[in-house]
Amino acid sequence: MPSVLVTGANRGIGLEFARQYAADGWEVIATARQSSPELDELGVRVEPLELHDLDAVAGFAGRLAGPLDLLIANAGTWIPEQAEAADDGRAWSDMMVANCIAPFLLAKAVLARVAEARGKLIALTSGMASIAESSGGYVPYRTSKAALNMAWNSLAVETKRLGVIAAAFDPGWVKTRMGGPKAPLSPQESVRDMRRLIERLGPEESGGYFRRDGRRVPW
Ligand SMILES: NC(=O)c1ccc[n+]([C@@H]2O[C@H](COP(=O)([O-])OP(=O)(O)OC[C@H]3O[C@@H](n4cnc5c(N)ncnc54)[C@H](OP(=O)(O)O)[C@@H]3O)[C@@H](O)[C@H]2O)c1
Repeated sequence: MPSVLVTGANRGIGLEFARQYAADGWEVIATARQSSPELDELGVRVEPLELHDLDAVAGFAGRLAGPLDLLIANAGTWIPEQAEAADDGRAWSDMMVANCIAPFLLAKAVLARVAEARGKLIALTSGMASIAESSGGYVPYRTSKAALNMAWNSLAVETKRLGVIAAAFDPGWVKTRMGGPKAPLSPQESVRDMRRLIERLGPEESGGYFRRDGRRVPW
């Protein structure tokens, strides 16, 4: 039975990844700061994980046994939207930890397990991380996800020799608490597309930054 570790699986896109992989018979290890009735209902293993607790993140491999086929580094935050004051700067600094530093440390922590399975490391980035396509604004979020892209691209260079594929995905604009009610995509559609892309990703795509249909996003 293949196994997947999904962060931020209590709601939104992470919950949908956990739901779809569980429905397909995968072993799902779902992390959440706090579980939810929707996640509990899936009957999958839930591990508490706060991304700001970097000791817990870096030590996460101790909670795993055996090979891991897939990491979905999904958990992330959008706050603060802008940086105008010192408090925003502090929140931005926290966001860098949640959106970039913790996912990278988690990937490093589980890398040996993923290498055992010759598996994949997927980060949920955003189209807003693209410098080439930026229309400005939302500087904290854009920079945190652009930094994540660079971290993941560097990870791919390192994992190549292990047969591990690492890629960053823009899920599209999705109806979740982060995406809001006006988003055109449901979590079901976005996750269905991303799962297809994960399935067909090959070594030549490792290090890439992709839309959910597999087109490359300009950096
Ligand atoms: N929705 C979109 O349109 C969209 C577009 C582009 C990219 N994305 C990316 O896709 C991913 C999932 O987004 P979403 O729309 O599902 O967002 P969401 O509904 O806001 O869910 C975010 C998830 O991340 C978790 N999280 C946030 N901060 C955390 C922390 N410090 N420690 C542990 N978990 C934390 C949340 O847990 P709590 O419930 O405990 O807060 C929640 O499970 C994110 O990385 C986001 O940037 C989303």
